Amino acid sequence: MKNASQYLWWHTGIIYQIYPRSYQDSNADGIGDLRGIIERLDYLQWLGVNVIWLSPVYPSPMADFGYDISDYTGIHPLFGTMADFDELLDVIHLRGMKLILDFVPNHTSDEHPWFMESRSSRDNLKRDWYIWKDPGDDGSVPNNWLSVFGGSAWEWDEHTRQYYYHGFLKEQPDLNWRNPEVQDAMLEVMRFWLEKGVDGFRVDVLWHLIKDKQYPDNPPNPDYQAHMPTYDQLLPVYSTDQPEVHDIISRMRSLLDSYDDRLMIGEIYLPIQKLMLYYGVDNKGAHLPFNFQLIDLPWNAQKIARAVDEYEAALPPGGWPNWVLGNHDRPRISTRVGIEQARIAAMLLLTLRGTPTIYYGDELGMRDVPIPFEEIQDPQGLNMPDKNLSRDPARTPMQWDCGANGGFSSVRPWLRVDEAFERENVQVEREDPHSMLSLYRRLIELRQKEQSLITGAYEPVECNEQTIAYIRRESGHLAFFVLLNLSNGSACFDNENRRINGFVNIATSPHLEGRIISGKINLNANEGIIVRLDQ
Ligand code: NOJ
Repeated sequence: MKNASQYLWWHTGIIYQIYPRSYQDSNADGIGDLRGIIERLDYLQWLGVNVIWLSPVYPSPMADFGYDISDYTGIHPLFGTMADFDELLDVIHLRGMKLILDFVPNHTSDEHPWFMESRSSRDNLKRDWYIWKDPGDDGSVPNNWLSVFGGSAWEWDEHTRQYYYHGFLKEQPDLNWRNPEVQDAMLEVMRFWLEKGVDGFRVDVLWHLIKDKQYPDNPPNPDYQAHMPTYDQLLPVYSTDQPEVHDIISRMRSLLDSYDDRLMIGEIYLPIQKLMLYYGVDNKGAHLPFNFQLIDLPWNAQKIARAVDEYEAALPPGGWPNWVLGNHDRPRISTRVGIEQARIAAMLLLTLRGTPTIYYGDELGMRDVPIPFEEIQDPQGLNMPDKNLSRDPARTPMQWDCGANGGFSSVRPWLRVDEAFERENVQVEREDPHSMLSLYRRLIELRQKEQSLITGAYEPVECNEQTIAYIRRESGHLAFFVLLNLSNGSACFDNENRRINGFVNIATSPHLEGRIISGKINLNANEGIIVRLDQ
């Protein structure tokens, strides 16, 4: 157990993910930018979040909207200049907030100078910086590995007559992380940003970095169904999650540790037991291997409660938990579970033990916006058109006010704004005490000031088909009881023998607030309460 002073900013903070293209356009080109984010810092401070994670803002041909980087130490002119970045970092720090950058080490853009060199000839000094393989005798691909974005992961290069590997788009060739020169070059990139003073990184697809040396075929996935992405036809047992990845992570971590209190978050979609290895031996791996249980699981009380218990039990000693409800790759929470359950989800996210990450706009209840086929821009959507996999619906412009384009831009935005923006936006919801935004703000405020919610233990109380109940308790502080009805039917919580006494501090339904709790607790459909327990 740590004492309060041993907790660092990223244990106690609340992370807010900004997708910069869609946050605020300051120069009337329909695309969000860094100066736009600077203009909106007042809002973020008012909301109460204190760690900002930016999706990539580096130079990029934008084949994958910035996750295809052609210069790791620059800023794309669409987003502004390095001076704008420096100013953003300064003003964030002046407000006592932190800035996390997206770091994309698994692959570069095919327009990165390293790849242009590598593909120029077989004996180029950077040839081995990427993964090149000979064709089979009949010209076939080196193995059956698939790209996450559809089709084979191998692309033929006619000029040098070899295939290169790309786990994502063919415009995103994978770096060869077994090559020490690649490791050194990428650590230099991290150092560049650390020297500037960024507070850490969210490391893209961390579990993809190292592949099996022999490149064996991946086995078929027995659970594959036609509606699933084509990538899921195989189990990526040889192309991801290799043991040697942990050596790379510890190199990254040592670099971070040579600075003060910098954070490494890893993007890792793996089952709980495998995920835990990414904390590293003696917690010298990623500080926060992203925990996507709340994104991946069906919205079911029992399944979620079980996952929370399993996750809590699996954490290594000293490992700090974290929870995520949404991101730029997945459908928004209010579309996935409905707007009423999205309020429950907010309550869950902000009362579980561990660092929460909020995806921009979820605090307004923003929904996936239907994007007509001819307007789809996301390569994942375009490459697998019959599977409804476009990520554009979850990346639409932030809804600020009732003005043109929801206050996002004075010109037509790169993606359409939700038609409901005049009712659901920051300006309107700020004034409405019962809005999603007001609920988020109050939950954040409570979490930031109550030690039991910040660092207290998680004590499961009960869970059934409908409800989840738990207590958060830090010794010497007031404890909180959380009861969430994840169903659309009314539910009763039998409080006999449990001695849960207190008053309702925050409820999804305002009339419950202030109510004294002692006997049975009855909840309507989709209701949740946070009870401040009597001492
Ligand atoms: C994960 C990122 O979140 C996603 O947006 C991107 O397309 C892939 N990695 C490839 O970089």
